[in-house]
Amino acid sequence: MQIDHAARRARIAPALGLHADEILLVGAGHPVPRPELSEQHFPFIAHQEYLYLTGHEEAPGGVIAYDAKDNTWTSFVPEVTELEKIWDGTEQLPGEFLGALPAWLDARRARRVIALGAPLAGVQPDVIRTTQVRETYKHARRPKEPGELAIMRRCATATTAGYKALQPFLKPGVSERRMQIELEAEYFRHGAQTTGYSSIVGVGAQSAVFHGSPSTERIAKDGDFILIDSGAQWDRYVIDVTRTYVAGTPTAFQKDFAQAVIDAQQRACARCLPGAEWVDIHLATAVDMVNSLISIGLMKGNATALVEQEAHTLFFPHGLGHMVGLGVRDAGGVEPGRIKNPRPSLKSLRMDLILRPGYIVTVEPGLYFIPALINNVSLREKYRDAVNWPLAEKCLGLGGVRFEDNLVITDGEPENLTAAIPKTLTPARE
Ligand code: GLY
Ligand code: MN
Ligand code: MN
Repeated sequence: MQIDHAARRARIAPALGLHADEILLVGAGHPVPRPELSEQHFPFIAHQEYLYLTGHEEAPGGVIAYDAKDNTWTSFVPEVTELEKIWDGTEQLPGEFLGALPAWLDARRARRVIALGAPLAGVQPDVIRTTQVRETYKHARRPKEPGELAIMRRCATATTAGYKALQPFLKPGVSERRMQIELEAEYFRHGAQTTGYSSIVGVGAQSAVFHGSPSTERIAKDGDFILIDSGAQWDRYVIDVTRTYVAGTPTAFQKDFAQAVIDAQQRACARCLPGAEWVDIHLATAVDMVNSLISIGLMKGNATALVEQEAHTLFFPHGLGHMVGLGVRDAGGVEPGRIKNPRPSLKSLRMDLILRPGYIVTVEPGLYFIPALINNVSLREKYRDAVNWPLAEKCLGLGGVRFEDNLVITDGEPENLTAAIPKTLTPARE
């Protein structure tokens, strides 16, 4: 399904809350040179605020402008040179050439400027209004359109194929890098243009490193946790999935520990109903996981009280999830009119929103043994009675467990776009 960008601009314009004396400029950004003597640039990607309004990925320096007084959009695009046509096969985008932008601005020089997207040289926007309009813009594009959802489904299909192809490689002797290669190659075979972000593959203790890069480290033995966090990308839309496996036979403790996350994740998904507060779902999930940690003897006390004291952050230090779609972090933030919740355990929460139909969110609770937390002297003192510290110390090196799905919020039950990727600790054997 094609996305109709003109229809989208017509829908977005009134939602921005612009005053009649204001003009809006949204910049695509510029290619970034590599820090070496190669005359090369990093691959260019247009700023998502620009891409959303234009669909133009290949428009370095491009600007889309809106005049609120006469409700008109004008797209200024780079003029393709003969050299670019010859060397790169670049085709001319429709719109006015960028050379016409100064005259457009000059004709409106008494007007207040709001500048979104990438910064624009020589333009001095109203900082307060720009911040306000960025928020209203984000809010207007939070519910996904049918065309966006269709692309996300393609990404989910490719991602599912990747996780399926990965299963035979989840065994001792296979390196993190090899797992990454097998996973991503299958995405590409299923049409993915690239990955949604750098795939995370962590074996053993490395499974507790949130943004760890795949290394040549191999699965050493039966019983290592293997955490994979990866997803396919298509037209800048991204799927973001995490699964955790054990090579060989998990111990009873590993099973219970992983089940604590799986159960909490399922309950969190079921809570993703229209009107629900994301912060409430996050905190309820923390209580669920702390209850399990009490059952398996790792924490002590009352789960609700422990979460009120923020003790869960020793094992679950990140947020429950984020908006996903046009990028792995899409249009998150806070509900209009709110400020960021100052509660310490919510500082890493990437959104404080009321869920609405059309939103796509990740749901990704995790529990980890992170040396920097378990060995932290002041945390150990603060939570002396909340944790079975000798057991926590014994588990250092075990790593962590996370399960992550991508849910579409509907009028009723959520739809799980990544449900076809099994959540079993033991790799699937055909
Ligand atoms: N892939 C990073 C994340 O889950 O947010
Ligand atoms: Mn992820
Ligand atoms: Mn995520």
